[in-house]
Amino acid sequence: MDADRAVTRLRDAVAAIVGDEHVLLDDDMRAGYETDWTGRYTGRASMVVRPATTDQVAAVVRHCDEHAIAIIPQGGNTGLVGAAVPRAHSTRPTIVLSMRRLDVIGRVDVDALQVTAGAGVTIAAWRASARAVGLDIPIDFAARDSATIGGAIATNAGGSRVLRYGTMRRQVVGVEAVLADGSVVGSLAGLPKETVGLDWPSLVAGTEGTMAIVTAARLRLVPLFEHVVTALVSMATIADAVTLVGLLRQRLGSLDAVEIVQQQALDLVAAHLGTAPPILPSAGGTIVLVECADHRDPSIDLSAVVDSAPGVLDTAVAIDPVQRAHLVQFRDRITEAIAAVAASTGVPTYKLDVAVPIRAVGELLDVAGRAADSDRAELIAFGHLAEGNLHLNYLRTTTPSTIAETVLGAVARLGGTISAEHGIGVAKTSWMHLVRSAADLDAQRALRRALDPNRILNPGVLEPVTPIAQVP
Ligand code: LAC
Ligand code: ZN
Repeated sequence: MDADRAVTRLRDAVAAIVGDEHVLLDDDMRAGYETDWTGRYTGRASMVVRPATTDQVAAVVRHCDEHAIAIIPQGGNTGLVGAAVPRAHSTRPTIVLSMRRLDVIGRVDVDALQVTAGAGVTIAAWRASARAVGLDIPIDFAARDSATIGGAIATNAGGSRVLRYGTMRRQVVGVEAVLADGSVVGSLAGLPKETVGLDWPSLVAGTEGTMAIVTAARLRLVPLFEHVVTALVSMATIADAVTLVGLLRQRLGSLDAVEIVQQQALDLVAAHLGTAPPILPSAGGTIVLVECADHRDPSIDLSAVVDSAPGVLDTAVAIDPVQRAHLVQFRDRITEAIAAVAASTGVPTYKLDVAVPIRAVGELLDVAGRAADSDRAELIAFGHLAEGNLHLNYLRTTTPSTIAETVLGAVARLGGTISAEHGIGVAKTSWMHLVRSAADLDAQRALRRALDPNRILNPGVLEPVTPIAQVP
């Protein structure tokens, strides 16, 4: 059968399941699904398929399994490691399975502090549903308006509240998921204690759509705190910043986030917004953003800790929502400011998401900075200080592979990980061996083969031995 006829047969089969209008064939209709938002990762799919229900997902997956068609599951397409767009050099027939139409969110169970959400519900919609009944979500990050529940589970997303509540993995009480043969597994009953063998949330969280495709999840909610205080603190040295984290964690039960914004990142946002930086520059280049949230005003307790900490050069504190938002944007809008530079230079930013034990953050920043200098690239570093999680963004880099070798090697030496919260995707498959043993990777491969013998679920992603990744 020639390729065109095969595509027509596939189109007819999936259109019978999801409806004609939800099978996107035209180049311009597919384009937004085929390239990641940074512009770094791109590939071609035969079509984009947009199911609306679990049954439709199961039927499409079953068809693909029978015909060995690769499936790229996609949520909000805000990922940064190329996991949710087609593979650049694949010759296999491929569909992008957009999960965004599975966007139904259930009624919040205010007694259990849980809600059931379809995989395509955005983080922002999850948050709105919680806040409408006086609750909140335990996860939050800047891409909240587009990023979806399914994607957040698949990448084990983190964000700024991990310090208090843990990563996405910890928020998933149950999942409903479709296996490669089209069968549906899991439970949305929301039992906090349930021990009958395999825990499906554990299997799907962080495995980037390679073990199963999540269609819905039962999610934890947390109290909504009326009193929130935000502080930006300019620190003399990174070592002082690390000491501050320890003090904050020891003394403040209300601690919600401790983020790191290197001076260059703060300056970049200030320039992008045309606003003056809200605090005096840091001699050592490190600014810490702290948030506390509680049922009573935590600002006095926070100030007491900050005042007692060594190396504090300047502080800006806000409790008023408008003033808080002003401070928070110097953290939340870094990625946007970086994207604006990339758009103006035409050079995609090279992004590394890594974590090291917190005491090694300073050493890692030194290595990362030297790697930028030797390429005459500019490093914009920020991230989640409490978890030792840095987002290293290289602007105008010409040697991303060299930078990755240097930085990821150092990360491994320092006892860290090559991916904290963005995943491996196709971007980091070449370096998985740095942080996982051969036995570990073999076991993962065996599990995957057992569940997906025809290798239809996100092939190329999380595959350590086949170097699909090509850093352009
Ligand atoms: C953040 C994303 C890039 O922390 O992970 O803003
Ligand atoms: Zn992050």
